[in-house]
Amino acid sequence: MRRGLFITFEGSEGCGKSTQVARLAARLRGSGQEVLLTREPGGTPIGEKIRDLLQFDPVGAAMHPETELLLFEASRSQLVREVIQPALERGMLVISDRFYDSTTVYQGVARRLDPHTVQQLNAFAVGDCRPDLTFLLDVDVATARARMLRRVRPVNSTPDRMEQEPVEFYERVCAAYRQLAEREPERVHCLDGSGSADEIEERIWQLIQSAISNQKSAI
Ligand code: TMP
Repeated sequence: MRRGLFITFEGSEGCGKSTQVARLAARLRGSGQEVLLTREPGGTPIGEKIRDLLQFDPVGAAMHPETELLLFEASRSQLVREVIQPALERGMLVISDRFYDSTTVYQGVARRLDPHTVQQLNAFAVGDCRPDLTFLLDVDVATARARMLRRVRPVNSTPDRMEQEPVEFYERVCAAYRQLAEREPERVHCLDGSGSADEIEERIWQLIQSAISNQKSAI
């Protein structure tokens, strides 16, 4: 039986989500909450190998969009069964840096694969393990790209395969995320990612506190 709370973070590259994921996890742990932090693609030994193939391995340059979709789903199905579901069953609070909304947006809209197929594959990969709460950090494409280019990278490394997509790809990503938040306002909270990191952290903290107290009163 599932008892924990499952929280996901979404947004375009450069939206500031990884900063907020780290801040939230540290704050929750500081308040005595048991937290499991994970990410997609990745989060398991199998998933991290798939992440490398998807992002950095030069053989990935020949990858077809359909193959890309299935690799994201393969990483996810492993992560759900090996890590997320068992942690939720133990009553932990699970935070994932990206989850199936990324596939809906990147493969289903930006890559223009059939959205219905993407939805079916998402459902197959996760079963009934769906996020309770999702934070979308919304930034305009120009801000996101400027932040992405300023990222500190290992010496001689290049942007990953997805980061090399043209600006039109990222315009579709940002628009699709906003539509998702409009379609599912109860779950997906859209926050202005151009605000200060402290302000965003505070807003997320308020929303988490009310989700935790709603969960307690439902038990
Ligand atoms: P990041 O999480 O470090 O930003 O990198 C993950 C990259 O993979 C990012 O470009 C978004 C992309 N992605 C997809 O295209 N589909 C997915 O389902 C997931 C989880 C990520």
